[in-house]
Amino acid sequence: DIRKTFLSYFESRGHKIVPSASLIPNDPSLLFTVAGMVPWKGILQGTEPAFATRVADVQKCIRAGGKHNDLEEVGFDGRHHTFFEMLGNWSFGDYFKEEAIAMSWELLTSVFGLDPNRIVVTTHYSDDEAAAIWKKVSGKDAILLGDKDNWWSAGDTGPCGPCTEMHYDLGEDMPGGLPGTPDEDGGRFVEIWNDVFMQYNKNEEGKFVPLGRHNVDTGMGVERIAMVAQGVESTFETDVLKHILNKVCEITGKTYKENNKTDISLRIVTDHAR
Ligand code: GLY
Repeated sequence: DIRKTFLSYFESRGHKIVPSASLIPNDPSLLFTVAGMVPWKGILQGTEPAFATRVADVQKCIRAGGKHNDLEEVGFDGRHHTFFEMLGNWSFGDYFKEEAIAMSWELLTSVFGLDPNRIVVTTHYSDDEAAAIWKKVSGKDAILLGDKDNWWSAGDTGPCGPCTEMHYDLGEDMPGGLPGTPDEDGGRFVEIWNDVFMQYNKNEEGKFVPLGRHNVDTGMGVERIAMVAQGVESTFETDVLKHILNKVCEITGKTYKENNKTDISLRIVTDHAR
């Protein structure tokens, strides 16, 4: 339902829906497809022609090495995976920040029906434009953060730019603090969606060269939005992964949520088995 709802929302707004590309990228700088934008790197850089100016898909991703490596986090929290699926919409020289943010907000609150009061947004401190758009679209004051949180690139070189992240508040019963605070990894706030504004290409000399046109690249984890929609505390308890976790418990004779250390192992085996 989440995949279908996402794709039909963007289709009705002029996006061409395409299937997931291979997990093995046609790109010597990456071992695996780490994000939905990987198949579109050439288009974003302007070295390949765009087959459409608006595109949306559900891309299979692996983050188990290189710049985007989640391997060491898998199991220790309930939201990282070596393999996951990324919902994404793109503008190749078509809409930019204003429309991207307005569509993200509408989809999350009016279509998926998430409580607007539980959504927290962050923007890059240099991106006054994105913060002003959030204020206009949602009334929210974005939390301004630096490159670690709000600057995105697939690899050490290539298309990149400032981004704006949408986080969901799982509630005050959960430990953890707001994005950008010392206890941001506590678990209360989960990042659900990232809109990247691809304005630059970082070249081999490390220089940021402005791209000839403005692009949008967004990524929302299927497992994470499912976790929020299904009201569970981790992606492992969603219908995407629960059946694997149950089977791992059955085979090992262990019970989930009885012992913290065992839970980490059960989540790791579940992720890797998937
Ligand atoms: N390319 C956007 C993301 O991975 O968050």
